[in-house]
Parts: sequence; C-alpha cells; structure tokens
Amino acid sequence: MIIQKTENSRISTFDPNNFSFGNTFIDHMIICEYENGKWGEVKLVPYGPLPFTPAMMGVNYGQACFEGMKAYKDKDGQVFLFRPEKNFERINKSAKRLAMPEVTEEMFIEGLKALVDVDRAWIPQGEGMSLYIRPLIFATEEALKARVANKYMFAIVATPAKMYYTEPVSVKISDHYSRAANGGVGSAKAAGNYAASFYPTQLAIEEGYEQIIWTDDATHEYFEESGTMNVFVRINDTIFTPPTSEKILDGVTRDSFIQLAKKRGIEVKIEPVKVKEVIEAQKNGTLKEVWGVGTAVVTTVFQALGYNGEKLELPRLSDEESYAVTLKNDLVNLQTNLSDDSFGWRV
Ligand code: COI
Repeated sequence: MIIQKTENSRISTFDPNNFSFGNTFIDHMIICEYENGKWGEVKLVPYGPLPFTPAMMGVNYGQACFEGMKAYKDKDGQVFLFRPEKNFERINKSAKRLAMPEVTEEMFIEGLKALVDVDRAWIPQGEGMSLYIRPLIFATEEALKARVANKYMFAIVATPAKMYYTEPVSVKISDHYSRAANGGVGSAKAAGNYAASFYPTQLAIEEGYEQIIWTDDATHEYFEESGTMNVFVRINDTIFTPPTSEKILDGVTRDSFIQLAKKRGIEVKIEPVKVKEVIEAQKNGTLKEVWGVGTAVVTTVFQALGYNGEKLELPRLSDEESYAVTLKNDLVNLQTNLSDDSFGWRV
C-alpha cells in the first residue's frame, strides 16, 4: 500500500459535539485504480476531489455500487470494525451483478484497517457515536458506448456519525412504486437503486409520510424493504422479516438483529410478509411493532402505516416493551464493546 499522509490535517476543525453526518470527511481516503484487467496498488491519500469528466461511464450508465459500514471507539479508545467480511462479500456480489471487477480481500480489509487506523482521531467516542465508512466501486472510463467499462476506481471515504434518535415515523405502504423486480438489481447495493427511490419517496413525503415500505413489483401484496432499510414486523411476540432474495438486500444489521433476537429467545420467522396480514393484525390489535434496520440509522421505529389512503396507527411501546429498541441496544452495546462479543463480530 502506498501511504501519502496529509500535511494539513483538518482534525482541529472537527467538533465531535457539533457536526453533520455525511458532510464532514476524515483527513484521508483510500483509492485504487483498475486498468488493463487488473487492480493497481492501493493508495492511502489525503481526502479530496478527483479528476472527473462528464463522459465518465459510471455517471452515464450507473456502473457504481457501494457499502455502508461503521467503526466504533470504545471507552478505552480501542477501535473496532463490525463484521467487515460481510461488507467485503456483499460489495463483490454487487460488483458481479453490475459486471464490474471484484475487489480483493486484501484491498478491502487492509484498506479499511489502514484508513481507520490513520484517522482514529476522527472516530467520535461515546454513546451511539461511530465513523460511517463508505467503500465504493465506480466506472471511470471516458467513453459513451453503452457497454461494460474497462477502467474503475475502488475508493473508501468516511464521515463521523452519531446515533439518530429519530422520532417514530409514518411510512406509506407502496401500492405502485417498487425498488426492485425479479431479475433486477435489488439485492445489489447499486447506486442506481437509491436514485430510483428518491422520486417515490418525495411523493410519499408530499402525502405526509416520511418513508415508503417497498412492496413487490408484481402484486404489491408483500413487504420487501422500508426506505433504505430492511423491515421487521412484530405480531404478538413473534418477529417476521422477508427472506433475502434477488430483490431484497442482505443487510448486515438485518442479519445481526435476527441473531440477537434468537439469542434472547424471541421467535423469528423469516418468511414472506403479506401486507393484508399486517393490516389485519393492526385492526385486531395483534400488530405490536414495525421497524426498519440499516447500518446508518441502526433502527427506525414506525408509528403509522399508510394503506389505501388511511393512516393506521401503531401502538406506542415503552423502550422496555419494544423489541426494536431492545435489539438496537443489544447491537449498539456489542458494537461499542459494552457487552460480550459471543458472536465474534468485532474486528
Ligand atoms: C446504510 O444504512 O448504510 C445505507 O445504505 C443508507 C445510506 C444510503 C445512508
């Protein structure tokens, strides 16, 4: 790895008590270029803009995918990544689906470790604090023929993050738009999946909702995901979440929630979640909770579901009663070294 450290660290301008997620970037980044059928040397360089042409294939044809993951600093200043091998596996799954070159484990894991190590000072410490890390691959070839590109960049950038104590939100169950289709790219963390979600989300916001629960494209009868998250439903004391598929992202937080719930003895059913059954459960009082999970926010609890023009309220549970909050706390405690890591997830 080529290491070129900055001579102008911006760390003195960083106030861990006052920053906005996603706009503040740490001093360094990782870059690595792919050309002539192979990846070049990984470089750790000062964070900053790169040369760019509007004829770059990544921006014209959307050959771009990314990951979202975090690093945590515990009370003694030790730094941990969380299940980074899952993100390594997934970025290559995404790359494969988008006909992009896969990255090597060495590039991904060693790149992550080097970046987090050199910029340890940027990882905020304390409850719910972390460093959000964004590995990405995009096509850089300057060409406008619609075909697979032959030049790419792998990069890792990172931004400090704090826990969002979001108020419970209202979500609209989609009756028209979908984020994925059979045979499509839903299970890839493709940049274009996010672009395609913005317009339907804007429409839902205009209708008084904060987010969308994505339903299947063929019938809109089944839950798939919510916003940029996987979705969980609790009926009585059983948790349901749809199985991952080529339409549903294999979320690391989703998988961690499932394992943490099982560890607590909570019944988890990984099976198709029917909109009608959730609505029925809301009507007969057995629907206790619906929530989304993802790396960035960890958990967003829903307070109402929009369905057929009606806003159906969900019960307001205390933190102790809520599985969403209990499992979120289990996860955050594990990530920040406040509890035993019986799963071996901290790296
Ligand atoms: C994540 O939770 O990592 C996501 O993918 C959401 C992101 C688009 C902010």
